[in-house]
Amino acid sequence: MLDYQHQLSTLADNGGMQQRVVAVVAAMAEELRALADATAAEGAVREEHVLGRSLRHGTLAGTPVVLARSGVGKVAAAATAAILCQRADAVVMVGTAGGLAPEVRPGDVVVADALLQHDVDPRPLFPRWQVDGVVRLRPDPELTGALGAAASDAVAGHRDALAALGLPTPRWHTGLIVSGDQFIADSAASDALRRDLPDALAVEMEGAAVAQVCTGARVPFAVARTISDRADDDAHVDFARFLATVAAPYARDLVVRALTILG
Ligand code: ADE
Repeated sequence: MLDYQHQLSTLADNGGMQQRVVAVVAAMAEELRALADATAAEGAVREEHVLGRSLRHGTLAGTPVVLARSGVGKVAAAATAAILCQRADAVVMVGTAGGLAPEVRPGDVVVADALLQHDVDPRPLFPRWQVDGVVRLRPDPELTGALGAAASDAVAGHRDALAALGLPTPRWHTGLIVSGDQFIADSAASDALRRDLPDALAVEMEGAAVAQVCTGARVPFAVARTISDRADDDAHVDFARFLATVAAPYARDLVVRALTILG
């Protein structure tokens, strides 16, 4: 909580008891749509425009939230995270990712227990992937635990919708998510990531940037991603279809359930 205006905004209407504000960020409008609808259905929404972004202030599961579309890539994500760190007490990133580990398949959910930027290479100055003295950024355990419990419920809840798309029974995983400014859509690129980072579960384009900014600002954060593709030669085809049909309701269910668990 960094400024006076924000302190006022976090004093919710429940007898002056302070409730934390949770920022929810996704890269693409499609990933955020069902969350925005759920916020509008729950009560008044206030729009704020800052540095070219539209933020939506409202509530979800009774928790004050700020919803933001970051745009694609690490720069857009970092700028958005900096804005959100001045308005929220915690940041949750949702959206899609490509599966890297063999057991991580489309329809699964991956909750990050660590994140790194796979395209950062400051050698020989510092070790590969190191930023601000760390290679693996660690999300907040409480938020991550709530997202894990929510993921367990969400995969069960989406089983039928995924079966209709011809996808197997979804599962959830927790582990390393890697981020970079490339959409990985060929097998050579995903093989290289698997070779260099054998324990990476999934690849996306924003999470580690949000993690870096939140870590620097000392704002708790967590990241959960729905797997849309296998980061291989079919990735671009699968991605558009998956965004339209599955990503948005999955993101909503994950966040609403996690906020309910957090209370
Ligand atoms: N987001 C969803 N799928 C992805 C992929 N294959 N590469 C990078 N970001 C992604």
